[in-house]
Amino acid sequence: PLVTMRQLLDEASKGGYGVGAFNVNNLEQVQAIMMAASETNSPVIIQASSGARKYANDRFLYHLMLAATEVYPDIPVALHQDHGNGPATCKSAIDLGFTSVMMDGSLEEDGKTPADFEYNVRVTREVVEMAHEVGVTVEGELGTLGGIEDGHGSGEVSLTDPDQAVEFVERTGVDALAVAIGTSHGAYKFTKEPDREVLAMNIIEEINQKLPNTHLVMHGSSSVPKELVDIINEYGGEIRPTWGVPVHEIQEGIKHGVRKINVDTDLRLAATGAIRKAFNEDPGAFDPRFYLKPAREAMKEVVKARMEAFGQAGHA
Ligand code: G3H
Ligand code: 13P
Ligand code: ZN
Repeated sequence: PLVTMRQLLDEASKGGYGVGAFNVNNLEQVQAIMMAASETNSPVIIQASSGARKYANDRFLYHLMLAATEVYPDIPVALHQDHGNGPATCKSAIDLGFTSVMMDGSLEEDGKTPADFEYNVRVTREVVEMAHEVGVTVEGELGTLGGIEDGHGSGEVSLTDPDQAVEFVERTGVDALAVAIGTSHGAYKFTKEPDREVLAMNIIEEINQKLPNTHLVMHGSSSVPKELVDIINEYGGEIRPTWGVPVHEIQEGIKHGVRKINVDTDLRLAATGAIRKAFNEDPGAFDPRFYLKPAREAMKEVVKARMEAFGQAGHA
């Protein structure tokens, strides 16, 4: 069934595990995630960015999700708006049938300019009031992610201030709080294996001490596995050397209140590698199923691995 993010995260908190939130733009991504959830018996969050809603036409995405709940009636799944850039975006997601929204007030409506704290509190509070009225749950964000490369986040990174986080949660009433600890969206997060200098896991511990009952969210949490990058490069791709967020660091986070883990890039890498490989093996192929099936399979394997690692497996 379609459930709210809050329901899944409350259960995760009781069980001491994390729940992967995977981004989708199309049928094969929805299928890959649902297959992985079914094979591992996992609850799951499926999320669509504003770009995804525009790319697919969000009614298609919504109805794909309804199909997912019909095909997999035993899997609890939340349908979440990723990085809503304002109350209007969140409202349109709610009107469409999303069960959860992110109001990302860490940035202004353009999705680029860092916003001030009072703006963030105001728009997030507004969305919480509107959403809770109709049983939809809300994620807010405090602090900014790095990386302008993919159009998200600002050039300057500001890590979440734990005391401000306490005030933010009190004043907004969010169901979950996304924190900025040095990660960014996309494939190029770190230029070497991240240590605590660049990946500020200590901030999560501090926030969790001050807000033990708040579900924390890690964005930019793809691990950018070398094996997946290597497949892309082996078959003609050009991904530069790069590092993501190691799975063991995410597991540390889960010990300290991280309940939602956002992953998009790892699925993109898996699909791209599989498609490049398929074409390399048969350059004459032109049936989309020939390359989309291995792409779907590769995405499913990544999602399964994350579901096992985050501990959500077995908790559907
Ligand atoms: O917000 C980051 C996600 O990876 C979605 O990216 O805006 O390109 O759909 P997108
Ligand atoms: P990645 O780019 O690391 O997969 O992050 C996805 C994300 O945070 C979506 O909101
Ligand atoms: Zn994000």
